[in-house]
Amino acid sequence: MEQSIEQMTEILLCLSSVEAASLKEGINFFRNKSTGKDYILYKNKHRLRACKNMCKHQGGLFIKDIEDLTGRSVRCTKHNWKLDVSTMKYINPPESFCQDEL
Ligand code: FES
Repeated sequence: MEQSIEQMTEILLCLSSVEAASLKEGINFFRNKSTGKDYILYKNKHRLRACKNMCKHQGGLFIKDIEDLTGRSVRCTKHNWKLDVSTMKYINPPESFCQDEL
């Protein structure tokens, strides 16, 4: 019995030129108004990185990490895991997961 496998492409995040221009250097929290889903964008001089605002542990929402002096990490509201969005690697727990990048 043959089984077919389909692949679909879905656009998760699309920024207008005005929205892209209004991004500040560092961490930006962004909500897709049409889907209501949240994303984190990290902008520096060289590149723009983006990921879903959803923790790998149990799906918590990330917020600004007020203990972070570098301006690169966010903290999960559920169990306080931390993510460095400049590298997309979890800081806490250390040496653990990478966040899937868009
Ligand atoms: S859901 Fe994020 S730390 Fe548990």
